[in-house]
Order: sequence, then structure tokens, then C-alpha cells
Amino acid sequence: MNPSFLSVLKELDPRTKLLGLVVLLSEALFVAALARLPEGQVIWGLLMCVVVLLATVVALVRIERKTEATAAARRNQSSAAAQNVEILPDRREFYTRIAPYYDQRNTSSLLETHRAVITEVSEMLDDRGSLDVLDLGGGTGRLIAAQFFRERRLRWTYIDQSPGMLEQFMRNLETTALRSEIILGDLNNLDQLVTGQFDIVLLSLVLTSLPDFPDFTRMATHIRPGGRLIVADIDPAYSAAHPVFAVGTDNLAVGLEVIPRHPLDVIDRITRAGLKTINTHSIFRSDGVRYSYLVVAEKGADEDALLCGHAPEAVAK
Ligand SMILES: C[S@@+](CC[C@H](N)C(=O)[O-])C[C@H]1O[C@@H](n2cnc3c(N)ncnc32)[C@H](O)[C@@H]1O
Repeated sequence: MNPSFLSVLKELDPRTKLLGLVVLLSEALFVAALARLPEGQVIWGLLMCVVVLLATVVALVRIERKTEATAAARRNQSSAAAQNVEILPDRREFYTRIAPYYDQRNTSSLLETHRAVITEVSEMLDDRGSLDVLDLGGGTGRLIAAQFFRERRLRWTYIDQSPGMLEQFMRNLETTALRSEIILGDLNNLDQLVTGQFDIVLLSLVLTSLPDFPDFTRMATHIRPGGRLIVADIDPAYSAAHPVFAVGTDNLAVGLEVIPRHPLDVIDRITRAGLKTINTHSIFRSDGVRYSYLVVAEKGADEDALLCGHAPEAVAK
């Protein structure tokens, strides 16, 4: 039996419990009586059957109403809890406020998403021997960058616009062998923050936090020929159903309104930026919920020549 149904049964008022007991006893009596009924009195047996059935229906309707009332009470409780979330329109402020709590919250819920990103980076590292990674909106780094803590074959360039996140990143990475460059800044100003090109440009769980799509064409100029853009983000249906990313802090919960980003929109834009999608799939949480997606795109060997001096539309494929 469903556990919520059992918990509702426990909460039933005494009158409903009594009714349930009467129904059960009547059914037991009926089964016993039916076997002993003389021929010709079966009609009475059937009538009794109808009475027992009606009584059962009445009891079930009452239980059902109680179930609904309990569920409605729970829904009200959660919307009341949601009302206690302070929505922060300023993304920098939001991420700085949640930075000390981010790792704690994300170890379970985002595990599979981070695992998918780590697998992509690891496989590419094994293939190529060494990698320059540009991690845009790198957050605390605990679940991606820090997983490569022994890796001297990686150079990790980190950009985040939240000073709180950057501080956590430095704390999480301070004892690792990973060579990193840490930059505080807005990923939309990429050209002012980094020069040169990278084997991987990583955007993990950043798109839903940005008010607009970033300029993938500019981003592509920072990818080496043969290099890859790895994008991981929350499934748009999930974001639409959970429009506020709420995180509890010591005082109260703070929230950020997220913007659902469809993987096909991401693919369209990175294709227009001259990159070729080579891998994309959904990521399911351990409880079976479709939670996020991964898109991996590669830059062809001759894309730099194409991109140089052309407007994004000119390289649309
Ligand atoms: C949900 S966290 C993801 C962190 C990390 N990439 C991960 O996978 O766990 C989003 C991060 O993007 C950063 N961010 C949001 N907008 C940004 C921007 N315009 N420039 C740089 N970082 C940004 C936030 O500060 C935050 O650290």
C-alpha cells in the first residue's frame, strides 16, 4: 500500500475509522452468510452485497476527501515556505550569498550532471594527453575542477563574476596539484579577460542563470581547432516547473529566478557559431527524474579561418 495512503489512514478522524471497521465487519459477515444461504434467498444476499458495497464506497470517498485535504494542506505549506524565499534579482549578489552553502546543497542533486561533465573532460584528457580548460561560471569548483586535483596535465582557467564563489573555489582548490588561473569577471566580456585559445570551454549550469544567451561566436574564437565546447544545464521542463532556484542560508532562503534553456536552442546557437555538435544526451537523477542535459560541440580544423572577420550569420550552417 502506498505510504502516503497509510499516513492518511492514521490521521483519519475516529468516526471514519469506526465506519471503516463497520464496513470490514459487514464484509466478513456477508462472506460467512453467503455460504450458508438457502436457495431462494440469494436475492437477499445480493441486496446485502449492494449495502456493503455502498458502505465501502462511502468510506472510500471519505478517505479520498481526507487524502485531498491533506495534500492541499501540504501544498499550502510548501507555497508558504516558497513565500519565505527572498528573490534576489542581482545574480552576483545571489551567488555570493549562496556560495558558502552551494557545495552542501549540490553534492546530491547535481551529482549526475557533474559526473557527465567530468567524464567528457577525462576522456578528452586521455585522448590528448594534456588540456587547457576555460571554465566559465566555474562556481565553487568542488564538483568539477577539484575532481582533477591530482592532475598536472590540465591547466584550468576559471572565470566567475561572484566574489563569494571565487573565494570558495580558491579554498576548494588550494591544496591541489591542478594549475589554475582564477579570474573575477563577467563571461560576457571574455575578450577582455582571456587571450588565446583553449582545448575545452566549459559552461556547466550557467545558462539558466544568465539573462541572455552568451555570444557563442565570440566564445568559439577562444576554442582551438579540434577543441570543444561543453555545455551542461538544467532540463527546460524541470526549470519551468521549478522557476526559482532556492537555497537555504543560515538566516533565510534566497532565490534566483531561472530561465529555462532548451538544448535545441543551445545547439542552434552553437551551430551558428561554427561548432559541430558531436554528443548530446539527457541526464537523469538517481530517482529517475530527467534533470539536465549535456551538449558537446567541436570546432573543426578550419573554423578559425571561417570565423575571422565574419558576422555570426555569415558562418551559419
Ligand atoms: C549554478 S552555478 C554553477 C557553478 C559550476 N559551474 C557548477 O557546475 O557547479 C552558476 C555560476 O555561474 C556564475 N555566473 C553567473 N553569471 C555569470 C556571468 N555573467 N559571468 C561569470 N559568471 C557568472 C555564478 O556566479 C555561479 O558561480
